[in-house]
Amino acid sequence: MTPAGSSPFPRLFSPIEIGSVTLRNRIVMLPHGTSMVVDGAPTDDDIAYYEERARSGVGLMITGAAVVSPDTARRGRKLIETYDERVLPALARRAAAVRAQGAAIVGQIIHLGRESIGMESDYPLLAPSPIRSPRDPFPPHEMDDTDIRRVIAAFARSAANLQATGHDGVEIHGAHGYLVGQFLSPATNRRDDGWGGDPARRMRFLFEVIDAIRTSCGQDFILGLRLSADEEQADGLELPDTRRIAEAVARDHPVDYLSVTLGTRGGYVKDVTQPEATAARAAGVLRAASGLVTIAGQRFTSPALAEAALADGQADAIGFARAFVADADWVAKAARGEADRIRPCIGLNQDCRAFAPHLHCAVNPLAGRERDPAFAGFLPAAEPRRIAIVGGGPAGMEAARIAALRGHLVTLYEASDGLGGQFLYAAAIPGRADLLNLIDHLQRELRRLPVEVVLDRRIEQPDDLAEQADTIVLATGAVPHLLDPDRHGSGVRAWIDILRDGAPAPHGSGQALVQDDGSGFWWTYGVANALVDAGWQVTLSTPSATIAGAIPAESVAPLLVRLGTGGTRYEPLSELLHAGEGIADLISLTSGAEKRIEADLVVVQTGRSPAGPGPGVFSTAGLEVHTIGDCVAPRRLSQALFEAHRLAVRV
Ligand SMILES: Cc1cc2nc3c(=O)[nH]c(=O)nc-3n(C[C@H](O)[C@H](O)[C@H](O)COP(=O)(O)O)c2cc1C
Ligand code: SF4
Repeated sequence: MTPAGSSPFPRLFSPIEIGSVTLRNRIVMLPHGTSMVVDGAPTDDDIAYYEERARSGVGLMITGAAVVSPDTARRGRKLIETYDERVLPALARRAAAVRAQGAAIVGQIIHLGRESIGMESDYPLLAPSPIRSPRDPFPPHEMDDTDIRRVIAAFARSAANLQATGHDGVEIHGAHGYLVGQFLSPATNRRDDGWGGDPARRMRFLFEVIDAIRTSCGQDFILGLRLSADEEQADGLELPDTRRIAEAVARDHPVDYLSVTLGTRGGYVKDVTQPEATAARAAGVLRAASGLVTIAGQRFTSPALAEAALADGQADAIGFARAFVADADWVAKAARGEADRIRPCIGLNQDCRAFAPHLHCAVNPLAGRERDPAFAGFLPAAEPRRIAIVGGGPAGMEAARIAALRGHLVTLYEASDGLGGQFLYAAAIPGRADLLNLIDHLQRELRRLPVEVVLDRRIEQPDDLAEQADTIVLATGAVPHLLDPDRHGSGVRAWIDILRDGAPAPHGSGQALVQDDGSGFWWTYGVANALVDAGWQVTLSTPSATIAGAIPAESVAPLLVRLGTGGTRYEPLSELLHAGEGIADLISLTSGAEKRIEADLVVVQTGRSPAGPGPGVFSTAGLEVHTIGDCVAPRRLSQALFEAHRLAVRV
């Protein structure tokens, strides 16, 4: 490990004491469940996931939330069940694997309370008050004294189980609107008894959980607390409230650290449109008020940003979740002074938050596949070949990178004058310019390798290849479908025009119609956002019953606020019939009723088709041809990079 003194990030790489444990640095892996869990126990894949990140040099690993009692477990048993004795051997193996790599390990424990997550439980939901979560259809059961005592004891028992299985400590999940947070928050605790009625009584549940864990585990076992400094919900906790909670904890029921976050379920994993280091300022306030060791997290996107927050006194340690999903070797690269080689998380939340069926990452196909020999640790090519890769979007760039790393002679051909492909249009959507960080990263990596990049060169047939290649990889992406003049009328624009050329200034009535094709994805909603930003008042019509159905939950809310601020209206279950001369006619797909609206600009989502010559052209000339990404079928970044990776490790 690089000594702190010679590190480019000396504060980040300096040791720190938390409770009775000295950490080798101030880099914390924030809790994030992988769903690589069977019957409530972490699998070997989950253990490998943690082990690899510990090997890179993380100081403290906080494992994803584990449930403390059967009444908050899920029927699918994809959350770790720390209360179940049968799970303990696997927990012990995971703790040992992490500690063997020099990291400390703390287990986060949770009761979800009224947040059912997937509505799949064999028990009624429990909560301090019978107030329905906005995210679930049914109200919870109001806990009585017996319920409360049972759950407090369950927290203590899970903490003891973590201690018995070799963990360095436990973290109470008091954030994100789960049960402890539900007791703390005036939005969810409307009781008027010993457990609610004023701020002090709302804190009692937390205090009793802290005391029960201390009684059961002693003072030498790290006890941490995660709090949402601002719940970002109506009537919820705000920073002055949390400040009082942190002060009271420090004074009367001290914990060994505070981990500070913002938001509640559905809003705490901030996407690329949100500011970096989102919770740093709030962490600084709680740190100053409580004097507790404080971890700040949320969208720390680089070691430099983390170093700056430490220098500013906003925190004692910095937490990262998605940064380590996107690059397991983040810490080692930062320690070696190779921060510019870190593969960036680009905050799409599309894959890591889908849990389908376990953690994936759009930019890192290795995440969750650490033990899969087809992915991890690719080998040098047995016989170096000349590989021509056609198409310089993310798929082509990634395939070129890995093939070159394996020793192949790679030429990357791109028809336009720059790399990035259609992903450049995705980055043109308001607030999403940071998606370019991935393209910049791939370009930097390609520059380090003997990859010949040939721009402005369209390859359409075998003879087009300047040098003979043994193998061709087609990564030619997708093209937007053209507008149908008969159907759409002459004044109508295609979605891609807006992303490629920018939104026009409003004219006429200033009203615009955006017609989705029902896909509910960024390609349409990003156009609507661009038009709103340009000053248009948008009506968004879609054949779907859902608005923005393919956009991850944590991005939908801020997106709809941005659209709503511009006065956007929605016409679900409807289709554009005809547009022209300042009007658009819509038809309801359920009633058949027609509706005329003012629209001086009409933009239509036309969809995309595979681009390029297709593999047949090359294979008939006797060349080995592979296709990856959108030219197979237009999809998303994650599939493009996944297919590039899967091919390039074996070609
Ligand atoms: C896949 C995933 C799972 C998560 N699970 C948990 C969890 O179990 N407990 C928790 O407190 N936060 C959880 N989080 C939130 C993270 O701890 C963290 O606060 C959030 O991702 C913001 O930090 P980041 O920008 O470094 O990713 C999860 C985040 C992700 C991406
Ligand atoms: S899936 Fe997206 S948001 Fe999640 S870690 Fe990967 S790049 Fe980041």
